[in-house]
Amino acid sequence: MTRSAQQKMPPEPGRLTVNPMTVHIGAEIHGVDLTRALSADAVRRIREALLQWKVIFFRNQHLNHAQHIAFARRFGEPTPAHAVFDMDSDADYPEIYPVTKHRAALAARPSTVRVWTDWHTDVTAAVNPPCGSILRAVVVPPYGGDTMWANLAAAHQGLSPAMQEFLSTLRAVHRFKAAEEDAGETAEAYNAMVKKNPIVAEHPLVTAHPETGERVLYTNPEFVKKIIGLTPAESDALLGFLWEHCIRADYTVRFKWEEGSIAFWDNRATQHLAVRDVYQTDFNREFYRVTLNGSVPVDVNGNPSTPLSGNPINPA
Ligand SMILES: [Fe+2]
Repeated sequence: MTRSAQQKMPPEPGRLTVNPMTVHIGAEIHGVDLTRALSADAVRRIREALLQWKVIFFRNQHLNHAQHIAFARRFGEPTPAHAVFDMDSDADYPEIYPVTKHRAALAARPSTVRVWTDWHTDVTAAVNPPCGSILRAVVVPPYGGDTMWANLAAAHQGLSPAMQEFLSTLRAVHRFKAAEEDAGETAEAYNAMVKKNPIVAEHPLVTAHPETGERVLYTNPEFVKKIIGLTPAESDALLGFLWEHCIRADYTVRFKWEEGSIAFWDNRATQHLAVRDVYQTDFNREFYRVTLNGSVPVDVNGNPSTPLSGNPINPA
């Protein structure tokens, strides 16, 4: 069979392979062509891999926007491009969020000494944060600009039973952080957008994953402002400890992008970090993201998160 004939064959679910990258998080999926309609079996196996490994990666998948959205639809309902940032939405593809274009605000922010700065779970200021995100690389720097993910279920498991028990009684406030005051016009525009749609939510500090039932240490330094019921000193100290704990090397994976790479993460069980080194270069980077609409998280007793301000995210 010629090479071109092979490429025209539909993907064979039997060839789909899952190659774990670490013990706790990350797997590369091979043997599937995401530009084509996936079989039900392939969708099932990809979903299983996602739930087990929390973030899965595909290589050499050169999707256009329509194919990206079609792939996402096999796993849920895409949201509008972003719950808050709507300025760059493409009228033809309102589900596509261009990650590249907001990076000026990040670049302008002064670096800080905290190792967990910029780690986040997508849009947890919403009462129903996206359940998953699918990020596609189109233009990739020659080096630098990796992304890291942390498994928050593994992080929860790594705590003592006494700490797990204590945390399961607590809830925290999630909101968008204001940009640094000295970050110039970009920061002002950012803050204006945040004010326009001020979503704030209260989430349990430990959630029960809706599909796997795992306990998840549901906190991230980008959106979490305080733990309810603790003094500011207690809250700051505990959150600082938890955020450093979540990103211990054991619980993380680091991905080196290539053009055509795709990362698909379970936003209910992870946080992630766009490594900032690339902002010290002139390298270009062009990524696109589709997020999947999520349900309202619940704690270990089934008590749901509550909105404090703003509306839930709805499908696009
Ligand atoms: Fe993100």
